[in-house]
Amino acid sequence: MRTVVFPGSFDPFHNGHLEVVERAASLFDEVVVAALRNPQKSDPLFTLEERQEMIRESVTHLQSVTITAVTKLLVDVARDVGAHAIVKGLRAVSDFENELQMAQMNRQLSGVETIFIPTSSRSSFIASRLLREVARFGGDVSSFVPVPVAARLVKQFRE
Ligand code: PNS
Repeated sequence: MRTVVFPGSFDPFHNGHLEVVERAASLFDEVVVAALRNPQKSDPLFTLEERQEMIRESVTHLQSVTITAVTKLLVDVARDVGAHAIVKGLRAVSDFENELQMAQMNRQLSGVETIFIPTSSRSSFIASRLLREVARFGGDVSSFVPVPVAARLVKQFRE
């Protein structure tokens, strides 16, 4: 049984993330999506529990996918769930430098490998930061996020 962990802050989870989950699920027996704290990003829009719930509602069509949301080191999550590798999506060269550094650090810390899946051009411009900004000012982001996430974004900024 080959298990991989797909980590991210997922604030919010979007179609680019979903694409990576679907492709990882086609390659591995089990995919654990881990919503984690990114200490570089303060003041999240959604709580970890809300993010976990939105991801769960967005991947109901994928039987081999489970979701966790914790405040821990990624390498500890990978060990806890028995992951053979970490999976990350790469949108553009600009993602690469930071992702390479994290992959190298995680391998030094625990020996776990990181596998990169390049996102399709259809998703490569989608970023949670932009979605939060567009949604905050009333823009329509429904074509960039799963339906459950679109509903939560509308609710979040209406209240
Ligand atoms: O979606 P993001 O914000 O790019 O994801 C970054 C994330 C959450 C994967 C990264 O910040 C992370 O691994 N956080 C958990 C804490 C940790 O292990 N930090 C060391 C990274 S080398």
